[in-house]
Amino acid sequence: MKKRLLAVGILFLFIASFITLPAVHAMHGKEKEVKKAILLVAFGTSIPEAQKSFDIIDKRVRQAFPGVEVRWAYTSRIIRKKLARQGKFLDSPEVALAKLMDDGYTHVALLSLHTIPGEEFHELYVNSHLFAEMEGGFKRLLVARPLLSSYEDMERVAKAMIKHIPGERKRGEAVVLMGHGTAHHPSDAIYMAMNYMFREMDPLIFVGTVEGHPTINDIVPRLKKLGIKKAYLMPFMSVAGDHARNDMAGDEPDSWKSILEKAGIKTVPVLKGTAEYPEVVDVWVEHLKRAYSHFK
Ligand code: CO
Repeated sequence: MKKRLLAVGILFLFIASFITLPAVHAMHGKEKEVKKAILLVAFGTSIPEAQKSFDIIDKRVRQAFPGVEVRWAYTSRIIRKKLARQGKFLDSPEVALAKLMDDGYTHVALLSLHTIPGEEFHELYVNSHLFAEMEGGFKRLLVARPLLSSYEDMERVAKAMIKHIPGERKRGEAVVLMGHGTAHHPSDAIYMAMNYMFREMDPLIFVGTVEGHPTINDIVPRLKKLGIKKAYLMPFMSVAGDHARNDMAGDEPDSWKSILEKAGIKTVPVLKGTAEYPEVVDVWVEHLKRAYSHFK
């Protein structure tokens, strides 16, 4: 009886060693093959004409990083749902990161295609770092900065925007830029800073925001005081999407166009997102290159 028990015990140990060994081998096995990817993250747009901006960025990024996997994610749930109904499926940044991890990517550079490091960038940054801490996942996950992240960025973007003001603008005609803005994040102050930056280069350029400060009501009295009769309206957002088409250039009484016309100022809306200007895209791509360079 005792002998039989011993035999069973030995057999058990024998089997157990077979079961555990491969696991030990896997853990000490060879290093995971290096696989690099880029994740481009934008708020998103459901307007086909505005999609053009993202296509330009996509092309530029693929040119700058030949052979590297490039994927997209949209932060806006509403836009993702809208697109899904049209059969276009886009991931949230979190789902996109999970898929990259699942596909065995070891190094991921994420680029925020936001204009300021505001609320959405913050969320992206925090969540990305949670992914970076997961065991057995990425070796490195770096988040590149959004468009306006330094004095140098601000200066370059201001110059690029000025270059793309319609050529027919005459002396004494103003330019009013519509930024998004944020009511709950200190980065909203960047729009104030941009106002200063633009004004140093061209005293008749004004920056306002839809959801933060300054508002259009801060700008109108200034335009009136200067006796402005005509203003070009330009989005200061990556795409000329819903805000640009409706809140800026729409016919509703509360659109910027309507508010300015009511104040006796003729308007010329320009429906182009900042991502349609190559010099602006360059700033984003350089941020991405800086992050990616840490992988070498
Ligand atoms: Co908005």
